[in-house]
Amino acid sequence: MPLTAPAPPARTATLTAPPWRGLPAAQQPPWPDPAAVADVAGELARLPALTAAADVRQVGAALADVSAHQAFLLQAGDCAEPTGAMGVAALQGKHRVLGEMGEIISNRLEMPTMTVGRIAGQYAKPRSKPEEIVGGRALPVFRGLNVNAPDADAAARIPDPRRLLAGYHSARALLSELHIIAHRAASDLTPLSAASITARRPRSWDGTLRAVLDDYGRTHRTEEGWRRTGLWTSHEALLLDYEEPFVRRDPRTGEDYLLSTHLPWVGDRTRQVDGAHIALLAHIANPVAVKIGPGISRGDLIALCQRLDPHRRPGRLTLIVRLGAADVRRLLPEMIRTVAEAGHQVVWACDPMHGNTFTAATGHKTRHMDDIVAETSAFIEILHRAGQWPGGLHLEVAGDRVTECLGAGGPRSEQGLARAYRTLCDPRLNDDQARLLAQRAADLIARG
Ligand code: PEP
Ligand code: CO
Repeated sequence: MPLTAPAPPARTATLTAPPWRGLPAAQQPPWPDPAAVADVAGELARLPALTAAADVRQVGAALADVSAHQAFLLQAGDCAEPTGAMGVAALQGKHRVLGEMGEIISNRLEMPTMTVGRIAGQYAKPRSKPEEIVGGRALPVFRGLNVNAPDADAAARIPDPRRLLAGYHSARALLSELHIIAHRAASDLTPLSAASITARRPRSWDGTLRAVLDDYGRTHRTEEGWRRTGLWTSHEALLLDYEEPFVRRDPRTGEDYLLSTHLPWVGDRTRQVDGAHIALLAHIANPVAVKIGPGISRGDLIALCQRLDPHRRPGRLTLIVRLGAADVRRLLPEMIRTVAEAGHQVVWACDPMHGNTFTAATGHKTRHMDDIVAETSAFIEILHRAGQWPGGLHLEVAGDRVTECLGAGGPRSEQGLARAYRTLCDPRLNDDQARLLAQRAADLIARG
């Protein structure tokens, strides 16, 4: 997280006819009162943006480095993020574990790791069914705290647009915390000489020590190295009513940026090439990411790349593949060929979580470390074999000692899941599992 980025002054959204309006938009909540949603959207448009275009451009430059095999992308955090005081309380742990993982990876690969949280806005979830069974009762499904509450109560499940404002203020509080952490880290630089940092900078970085700190996660071989790791923000750009008010024109460049986050992504359920979500990503100047599941066709993959990266700009597009341990070897080689033939220099990132989810006999949604490691290993091996850089990992981690995923570093049996199962949505890795996976991935990548 950079030291700059104070909130830019309030600006109104600049678009009178956003190109995504009127296009089919999957996974939007059934808001009971559309007029109330419009009021909230108007209020959001008058509030200061959450990120700054200059910082978003730095994220783009860092991703270009990743796409050029000069850095690594580690993107991780909650599946569904808590808001309010709970969100702030959980921040330190996530910041710490991402930093530790970043340090493990950087030390092994001898290159910078750019750390990006699923953080400060990961408050909305796409769901596979409109209802879920809770305590034997069918209830409207929980869609993230920007929409409804997870309580086992029909009234709590009614989508409430005022939650979008609460989400905004939660994100703002987290961004303040991140600035405080970054500031503390920067003022604690005495053991490192500017020369030693400069020596490790990738070639594309320019400028001063400040620029290095402002840039992205610095890591080095001192004990507290991870404390200086910066954290950028990302979330799934799912709720158009929340995102649209943050599309703001940058007076410096005349481009429109999505300033609710640094790196927005579109999920596997909303990546329809002619849909509203992809139209939003295509319009904005941020670097963008898309989740790719086993159901994508070759034609859709080509069309998505063309739509989102028409100028073939290195790092503009990150493809987060989540194919599952069972399918990754069969499907990934062809995808890599397709994208390379179309001439896009994307960041390839592996999400080894979402293709490996199952329900345990105890009723808990879970994932097994064996599958997570297997998919990650296959991803690395296949990218290497294709002569490409397996430069990214996208994970769900808690920053805490939760018991949500099975296997190494966590519960050995399904009975152990209940001990500390706290997620609001999908099961997350605990600290030990996250560090183990970072070590394993870094070893495999380093071995080539
Ligand atoms: C997620 O990242 O939590 C998610 C829903 O992922 P996907 O779009 O890959 O299913
Ligand atoms: Co998830």
